[in-house]
Amino acid sequence: MRSLSILFLSFGVVSARYASNLNYRSPSENHPGLGVSIHKVVKRNNPSSSWDPAQLNFTHGVASGDPYPTSIILWTRVAPAADNDQSNVTVSGYVPLWNHETEEYIQASAAPVCLDYKVSTDDSFGSAVDQGTVYTTSDIDYTVKVEAKNLEPYTTYYYQFTVCGSDNSSPVGRTKTTPRPDDDVSNIGLAIYSCSNYPFGFFNAYGNAVRKDSVDYVVHLGDYIYEYEEGGYGWGYSLGRISLPNKEIFSLYDYRKRLATYRTDLDLLASHQMFAWIPVWDDHEVGDNTYRDGSSHVNNTEESFVYDGGVSVDQRKMNAVRAYFEWMPIRQVDMDDGLRIWRSFSIGKLIDLIMLDTRQYDRSITDLYWNTHYINEISNEASRSLMGSRQEHWFYRQLSESAGRDATWRLVGNQIIFSSLNLSLLLGPEDPFNYDAWDGYAANRNRTLSHLLKHNISNTVFLAGDTHASWVSDVVWNSEHRYNPITGAGALAVEFGGTAVSSPAPVGQNITLAAANNMTEWAVGHNEHLMWNELYYRGYFELHVSKEAIEARYFGIPNTRVKSGLEISLANFTVKAGENRLSRPVAGGVVEAGTLKGGRRVETNATRDTEHE
Ligand SMILES: *[C@@H]1O[C@H](CO)[C@@H](O)[C@H](O)[C@H]1NC(C)=O
Ligand SMILES: *[C@@H]1O[C@H](CO)[C@@H](O)[C@H](O)[C@H]1NC(C)=O
Ligand SMILES: *[C@@H]1O[C@H](CO)[C@@H](O)[C@H](O)[C@H]1NC(C)=O
Ligand SMILES: *[C@@H]1O[C@H](CO)[C@@H](O)[C@H](O)[C@H]1NC(C)=O
Ligand SMILES: *[C@@H]1O[C@H](CO)[C@@H](O)[C@H](O)[C@H]1NC(C)=O
Ligand SMILES: *[C@@H]1O[C@H](CO)[C@@H](O)[C@H](O)[C@H]1NC(C)=O
Ligand SMILES: *[C@@H]1O[C@H](CO)[C@@H](O)[C@H](O)[C@H]1NC(C)=O
Ligand SMILES: *[C@@H]1O[C@H](CO)[C@@H](O)[C@H](O)[C@H]1NC(C)=O
Ligand SMILES: *[C@@H]1O[C@H](CO)[C@@H](O)[C@H](O)[C@H]1NC(C)=O
Ligand SMILES: *[C@@H]1O[C@H](CO)[C@@H](O)[C@H](O)[C@H]1NC(C)=O
Repeated sequence: MRSLSILFLSFGVVSARYASNLNYRSPSENHPGLGVSIHKVVKRNNPSSSWDPAQLNFTHGVASGDPYPTSIILWTRVAPAADNDQSNVTVSGYVPLWNHETEEYIQASAAPVCLDYKVSTDDSFGSAVDQGTVYTTSDIDYTVKVEAKNLEPYTTYYYQFTVCGSDNSSPVGRTKTTPRPDDDVSNIGLAIYSCSNYPFGFFNAYGNAVRKDSVDYVVHLGDYIYEYEEGGYGWGYSLGRISLPNKEIFSLYDYRKRLATYRTDLDLLASHQMFAWIPVWDDHEVGDNTYRDGSSHVNNTEESFVYDGGVSVDQRKMNAVRAYFEWMPIRQVDMDDGLRIWRSFSIGKLIDLIMLDTRQYDRSITDLYWNTHYINEISNEASRSLMGSRQEHWFYRQLSESAGRDATWRLVGNQIIFSSLNLSLLLGPEDPFNYDAWDGYAANRNRTLSHLLKHNISNTVFLAGDTHASWVSDVVWNSEHRYNPITGAGALAVEFGGTAVSSPAPVGQNITLAAANNMTEWAVGHNEHLMWNELYYRGYFELHVSKEAIEARYFGIPNTRVKSGLEISLANFTVKAGENRLSRPVAGGVVEAGTLKGGRRVETNATRDTEHE
């Protein structure tokens, strides 16, 4: 009799049911104008008419993320159609509805979709610790995002959404709150991912942590989607993985459709269903090599406005961010002057995880391919920042406060490689560094290292994605602090750069294992602080964090062109608390692929050039 009672809901209850769906809000707390006007949604949608529950489909499973000790974000999408909303409207104006039969926009009054949700410590939902009712509509692409509250710290929960008055339910999701900041915890597992390109292969890497049930939380460092047109890039046609819409994406609809397409990969769905995620974007969630004012394909000039998708840089970024906010299980964040996603998480006394946005928020101009030499020339300018002064100061304050509260480890979830890397063999002698990474922003790196030194901050570990390859380094600041690559003495921190879930190797999508290993020999040989480099394998890494040490385990996926749970243990590293360097012998002296400084590569049966057999 539930649907009958909906007829008599007061306006207040109705708008509360919209309002508790966080996706109507602005992605930014301090810019409410970027939200969807609930007043207008209430007027346009008629809660006394309702959907036939059988017409509605949970199209993309469930997800959870941004865990806190007593609350967590829960996500689903329930829709009368598989397609995404095509209105492209990001602000509070009138939102037209798309009529799929007549293929035109109509000014119809529609029913909101009503969902009940419940959260419990057992997956049969004997008793719910939190529950609620929430609406969604086409305005937000039928996505649903609620904050589950009143939870216990460091506890596993199950959750489920059900169409009101029916038994049409979502899959059951599992999630986990974080410990309280003061809780004395050890042995926290994190799976670290980046760079999942749908047409380049199956997301086996996401599924493997689920199959092993090996971690507590998933951290994603960005390039969760790619904005490219399919064209000849990728193996999408041969794999049946076409990233829709089949063009470079610009509009709100485009970004929604792209996210929706990626979120059909079964291993990605499984990861979202089983783990709480802490994601942040890199460039491709908006465009290639984005910075504050543009990207490699968009110069923010009148010409490029006409030529490139008909949107300004800012509008494109807004479209991308709104779709990301709708589709990812993240919280709204405070923001004063940009699209702020940078935020931090305390995981007991053990970890502070600082998630940076070195890309969209306030990055100074980057390498856009046609200006590489110019960026090389200005790469040491003091005014250049990856983060803008606001985020930079926040970052340094986070590091200090974390050390001040005696958290054992500071993990910096950042997009791009922090350590300086001379890649002359790959990039040529003229401009031998990757100026789209921290190497293009040397002063910003110096300020970070100077902060660590000046405040005697220990146990900092930088995490990076973006490159589609694995790079493990002692973080050094040579002229300030003499470094000994044999012992690691003089290092200030450690960096773990991880390879891609499926994006191709930076040295060519069809590189052979032998040629890749050969190139890593050069890179490790010419960069004294680079301890391990691996260029062939797609994959991910896990961090197992205790009070005494961090163990990093790197996994390679033998073949992303088939859906498979096979993986290879490529290398293991230890960082002991207080040492600020990789423990010697690095990786125990043996890895299965790539080049290890001062160590051996022992290829096993598992390590074969499977992509080329
Ligand atoms: C619901 O979505 C699934 C997955 O896309 C699809 O297989 C199924 O046919 C859909 N059901 C309806 C009623 O649309
Ligand atoms: C929204 O964008 C899509 C794809 O670019 C386009 O097909 C559609 O017509 C746009 N809708 C409106 C209302 O402009
Ligand atoms: C951006 O400007 C540069 C320099 O004028 C030019 O080489 C490049 O082609 C432009 N890119 C686009 C997409 O218009
Ligand atoms: C960074 O620090 C190093 C070591 O002190 C110094 O040689 C270099 O000039 C500095 N670069 C910038 C851009 O501040
Ligand atoms: C990079 O490495 C090459 C090869 O060792 C060397 O010739 C070059 O001087 C290096 N460049 C810089 C800027 O260190
Ligand atoms: C720096 O911190 C370490 C512990 O992390 C401590 O042992 C050492 O005394 C500190 N040094 C200074 C100069 O404060
Ligand atoms: C890599 O190999 C695939 C098929 O094996 C082929 O379609 C593609 O063109 C190759 N790419 C390059 C850059 O050679
Ligand atoms: C290995 O690299 C060297 C240059 O360092 C090159 O001469 C050689 O051809 C490479 N071999 C393979 C198999 O790529
Ligand atoms: C890494 O450690 C695991 C045990 O945790 C072990 O099974 C695996 O063989 C190790 N891998 C390498 C490359 O040493
Ligand atoms: C080598 O691996 C294959 C599967 O990849 C397996 O069938 C075979 O038994 C392995 N051989 C050894 C000696 O482990």
